[in-house]
Amino acid sequence: MYILPTLCLALIIWCARASKLIDDFHDANSKFTAEGYKIIRRLNLTSNFLFCPLSAQIVVALIRAGANGTTADELALHIHNPKTKQLFSKVLSSIKSKQKCEFKMATNLYISDKYHVKKQFKNFSKKVFRATTEVVNFNETKKVINYINDWVANQTKHNIKEIVSSPDIHKGTEIIAVNGLYFNGDWLYPFDPTFTDRIRFHVNNNKSILINMMRSENKFKYRKDAVLKAQFLELPFYDQDVIMTFILPTTRFGLDKIEENISDYLPHRRSLNYHAVSVTIPIFKVECNIDLVAILKNMGVRTPFSIGADFSRMSDTTPSPVVGNIIQKTFLEINEKGATAAASTAVVIEGRNVPPRNIFLANKPFLYYLWHKKVGIFFIGRYTSPKE
Ligand SMILES: *[C@@H]1O[C@H](CO)[C@@H](O)[C@H](O)[C@H]1NC(C)=O
Ligand SMILES: *[C@@H]1O[C@H](CO)[C@@H](O)[C@H](O)[C@H]1NC(C)=O
Ligand SMILES: *[C@@H]1O[C@H](CO)[C@@H](O)[C@H](O)[C@H]1NC(C)=O
Ligand SMILES: *[C@@H]1O[C@H](CO)[C@@H](O)[C@H](O)[C@H]1NC(C)=O
Ligand SMILES: *[C@@H]1O[C@H](CO)[C@@H](O)[C@H](O)[C@H]1NC(C)=O
Ligand SMILES: *[C@@H]1O[C@H](CO)[C@@H](O)[C@H](O)[C@H]1NC(C)=O
Ligand SMILES: *[C@@H]1O[C@H](CO)[C@@H](O)[C@H](O)[C@H]1NC(C)=O
Repeated sequence: MYILPTLCLALIIWCARASKLIDDFHDANSKFTAEGYKIIRRLNLTSNFLFCPLSAQIVVALIRAGANGTTADELALHIHNPKTKQLFSKVLSSIKSKQKCEFKMATNLYISDKYHVKKQFKNFSKKVFRATTEVVNFNETKKVINYINDWVANQTKHNIKEIVSSPDIHKGTEIIAVNGLYFNGDWLYPFDPTFTDRIRFHVNNNKSILINMMRSENKFKYRKDAVLKAQFLELPFYDQDVIMTFILPTTRFGLDKIEENISDYLPHRRSLNYHAVSVTIPIFKVECNIDLVAILKNMGVRTPFSIGADFSRMSDTTPSPVVGNIIQKTFLEINEKGATAAASTAVVIEGRNVPPRNIFLANKPFLYYLWHKKVGIFFIGRYTSPKE
């Protein structure tokens, strides 16, 4: 029985590689994953987190196809393969449902009825990313928001309900690219629920919590690596191209050290060997919002968000629009039977001559008073937290 470290286990679901092109994508994906992970960790966005690099890469690659110059270069996110077309066709066709493993992935483009999009861009989106283009009227903001969120909910089997909201979407929105990904897979070797037990999870030296953990004894691909100071365990799904890898520090609270060199722990060409292993893993569910703008800006992607943005391959409209926001929501649940995971990423592109909006979002402690113009203040108060 090993003590599980802090709140976050590194989880990686990955697909087997099929060709040189896929290898290139795999490398770019690993680099993007490692950088993204480090940034999320540095920004302390949340303690338990879940990031979906693939969904982000797909929508970013899609809008990159409409970008030119520096805007396009920065959005490449390590994918510098000139054969973008074949690359993504190959990646998308490698992701398919098999017995007891359902994969759903779709991408949609919502375009403002006031924005003219080049035919080549629509064609490219359709051919390469299988993206459907729909024309919407962003004046009817609420209606469009519901429409997009309904699509994402359907696409992710209701695991992700609200990807876009006001004030991200407004009358000046020109394009939204949205990707929805859903996976549901059974373990190749399901855990017997009768072995599930309450086991103490050690959050840190001072705190531990009793939680449900599933248990199994079987031959699994496993390695205890003395140099990396970690145990690697692979749980294969019924479709054995899909694997969930768990990385557990061998020192008591060694996750920090692993995270510092995260790229050493991502899937590599070398593989693990089968060993008899007694496995105990928490049953858990995680939901997360990821601020991809912060992540990309930390990676040096700046032009697409600035007045220098150039989306001239998307439209001739001048001035060229800018990226207003990139939002990602993720979901993962694992239990004795298998795993369900979902993600959605939305890129919001908006006009530059939108009058600046003032946003008042009272989602933090604030002060208020009630007053009479002639008499003065009747009441003053502060609001620091909702009633529990
Ligand atoms: C993140 O948390 C660590 C320790 O919990 C702290 O040292 C660091 O300053 C925090 N960083 C930010 C950006 O909040
Ligand atoms: C877009 O695709 C359609 C049909 O697939 C084709 O007829 C048209 O010529 C293409 N347009 C451009 C600009 O590539
Ligand atoms: C949308 O709103 C703008 C200004 O708010 C107006 O000029 C435009 O005519 C409206 N378009 C539609 C289709 O309602
Ligand atoms: C929901 O998704 C399924 C396929 O996953 C599709 O057949 C159906 O038309 C979608 N429904 C809506 C309302 O989009
Ligand atoms: C644990 O408790 C000790 C003493 O109460 C305290 O000094 C230490 O900072 C705590 N450690 C953590 C990780 O909370
Ligand atoms: C990370 O890797 C570098 C170079 O491989 C090594 O020098 C360093 O000690 C490693 N850090 C940790 C915390 O393992
Ligand atoms: C992209 O930029 C290059 C160099 O600045 C320019 O020659 C080309 O016309 C631009 N492409 C489009 C579609 O605007």
